[in-house]
Amino acid sequence: MPAGSAWCHPALLLLLSSAPLWAAEISCRNEDGETVDWFALYKLPKHAKGEIPMLGLEYMYMDALAPEWQLSKYLINMTQGALGQTLKQLYETYESERNSIAYAIYNDEVPESDSDGWKRGHTKGFLLLDKSQGFWVIHSVPLFPPIPEDGYGYPATGESYGQTAICITFKYDQFTEIDQQMLSYNPGIYSCSIPNIFQADLPNLQKLCAGSRLPSVPLRHLSKLQSAHGEIFLHFAKSHLFIDDIYVAWMAQELKTDLLAESWQHSGQKLPSNCSLDYHVYNINLIGMPLNSTFYSINDHSKWAVSREYKDQWTCIGDLNRAAEQAWRSGGFVCTQNEHIYKAFRHLIIHYESCTDASTSI
Ligand SMILES: *[C@@H]1O[C@H](CO)[C@@H](O)[C@H](O)[C@H]1NC(C)=O
Ligand SMILES: *[C@@H]1O[C@H](CO)[C@@H](O)[C@H](O)[C@H]1NC(C)=O
Ligand SMILES: *[C@@H]1O[C@H](CO)[C@@H](O)[C@H](O)[C@H]1NC(C)=O
Repeated sequence: MPAGSAWCHPALLLLLSSAPLWAAEISCRNEDGETVDWFALYKLPKHAKGEIPMLGLEYMYMDALAPEWQLSKYLINMTQGALGQTLKQLYETYESERNSIAYAIYNDEVPESDSDGWKRGHTKGFLLLDKSQGFWVIHSVPLFPPIPEDGYGYPATGESYGQTAICITFKYDQFTEIDQQMLSYNPGIYSCSIPNIFQADLPNLQKLCAGSRLPSVPLRHLSKLQSAHGEIFLHFAKSHLFIDDIYVAWMAQELKTDLLAESWQHSGQKLPSNCSLDYHVYNINLIGMPLNSTFYSINDHSKWAVSREYKDQWTCIGDLNRAAEQAWRSGGFVCTQNEHIYKAFRHLIIHYESCTDASTSI
């Protein structure tokens, strides 16, 4: 090849070598569309007091590159936000890459459906991967997200209350662990594709996707997951046969930490703060966001818990509420000791309920 040929042009070489790699990198995406190891967001309820105008679509956002809460410049129904950017990878490739990507979208309340999914888990989320890597999002929004054929959107029913979401990027090998969790977790999948090239590694997701029977289910299973950048996450998955409050009976005792818990306290029988076992669980009842935005937990549909003591540093984000009937549902939590995530959530708590009647301020 003669010197100076177009093929030796450095810019062209760079383009040729980087473009396909970049295109293949399925990952959580931040609000600039860049790949991030993880992000977390907290959509504010419509009924909050403070300096933020309240449409019920505003949200606080943080990620591995900018690990402090910031008010997003987007609304949650916009494709430019982190959820939109992340889901775009599914919406734009589910047809063209149908043989090389696997995905599953699950929710106990399914968009455009009458079934309430009570036989499946009280779980909400979606995952997308190829044989290199992918992401898993766990969130609290009913009727979300839309199926790939419909493209991005956010349901009007998700506006009134607070909601949380966490996205984590994983290398491919971690998805075999996640697949194991699906046995107890039993998600209500409403859109999916698990091509045969994934059969050996994702047998449970493939069965759930096909609607076929699962093998016998462990009562509960704890999995240690590692994000693409090496951050450790524990995933707790309980089946509907582990009939107990996951916060008190399992998570707090397993993590050996007192937990302050935020969850939906409307439906059924609300469980009070509980100090019966070695490690206690207290219900949060008042949240204070940056920019002086405050709201009562009664306006919050999100599900998360943090260590009461700063030294323990656990944050868990997940699917289940502290309500008596949730003992009979499958679901789970993803927990981390990342100090930024912990500080961000821990600092939101203004008030929680003690185990006696007297209440406790932080
Ligand atoms: C988002 O919701 C707001 C308020 O309802 C609306 O004005 C806007 O058009 C919506 N944007 C999109 C992209 O749907
Ligand atoms: C606290 O939770 C445990 C585990 O679910 C339960 O056995 C116990 O009865 C609860 N205690 C109170 C006072 O509710
Ligand atoms: C928040 O409210 C307090 C009291 O109402 C006020 O003193 C403070 O300046 C406000 N903070 C911000 C960031 O505006």
